[in-house]
Amino acid sequence: MTKEFKVTPWDVEGKIDYRRLIKDFGISRLSDKTLGRIKKHTRELHPMLRRGIFFAHRDFDWLLDEYEKGNKFFLYTGRAPSGKIHLGHLVPWFFTKWLQEKFDVDLYFQFPDEEKFLFNQNSTFEKVQEYLEDNMLDVAALGFKPGKTHFIIDTKHADLMYPEAVKVAKKITFSMVKASFGLNESSNIGSIFYTSMQAVPAFLPSVMKKKKIPCLIPHGVDQDPHFRLTRDILPKLGHYKPASIQNSFMPPLKGVEGKTSSSDETSAIFLSDSPKEVERKIKKYAFSGGRDTIEEHRKLGGNPDVDVSFQLLKYLFEEDDKELAKIEKDYRSGKLLTGELKKITIEKINAFLKDHQAKRKKVDVKKFIY
Ligand code: TRP
Repeated sequence: MTKEFKVTPWDVEGKIDYRRLIKDFGISRLSDKTLGRIKKHTRELHPMLRRGIFFAHRDFDWLLDEYEKGNKFFLYTGRAPSGKIHLGHLVPWFFTKWLQEKFDVDLYFQFPDEEKFLFNQNSTFEKVQEYLEDNMLDVAALGFKPGKTHFIIDTKHADLMYPEAVKVAKKITFSMVKASFGLNESSNIGSIFYTSMQAVPAFLPSVMKKKKIPCLIPHGVDQDPHFRLTRDILPKLGHYKPASIQNSFMPPLKGVEGKTSSSDETSAIFLSDSPKEVERKIKKYAFSGGRDTIEEHRKLGGNPDVDVSFQLLKYLFEEDDKELAKIEKDYRSGKLLTGELKKITIEKINAFLKDHQAKRKKVDVKKFIY
């Protein structure tokens, strides 16, 4: 990994060079050929595929080969409760929801409620349990198919998880974990064991159904070190290697490098934010690619590539390519001002949050828990 940026499951820093990351991680760029194959089954491509937000994968072609032979896959993704859910978290989940609908498949959604407890020195188990309850409500409200979506909570489903996790753990040495995650002699032993828990949902359905079922993991690219290990080990236990598809990170509000962090209130918009808070945060904090004065902006134009309001539309809130292209063009030319762009983004976010917050009040999490 170069000095200028860092991508690990615990730390994302600096300006990420995704081309470099593809090489370093050994993942494959999503080719037009693979996208074409996906499109054959889904009719259209999700905006995050068209826009290169999901940009890389492992074994997606194998997954489609199996699917075309009638061997359906299941989806696996997850969330380690450590705080409230923010907009950046939605990127892989919106996409996962689309995959579930298009391929009509089961989704196993893991809530490793020990992960952040083990890795964050100042978190407590009780606090994490509160976030778990809160986070499950948000995920359930996103509209995954109730009968086909199964929440797996590590400590609550320990009877299912632990017997499989020890089989994985037996194949992992401390030096492998050190190399993959930068853990060391002073790391607590729970954190050293943890990756074996994150491996389990990739094959748990195969164990429960007593047949080999392909798995597809949509995830932020920072999680790849876990699944690289998982992929090495699963064949040794008689399971398929899981396929995966990786997204790039939505920038944090302030446009600083890295990824959105939930520990800093100025860094993110939370799903619980009120319309006023959203307006205030976008107006006050959202990094702008606009110019210092209106005159300059009209003359020289803005830069949507670094403009967080534009990126929010691109990643999540403007599905229409033509509309997005028009906003991009008008911003670049100086026709659209920063204040006007921010207004569009604020309205889109608030429309989404209004609907989401109403659904969250009504949703029944119990229906989703495995
Ligand atoms: N480690 C992830 C986090 O920090 C949670 C997670 C568990 C996950 N299983 C996953 C993420 C599978 C993506 C895919 O939030």
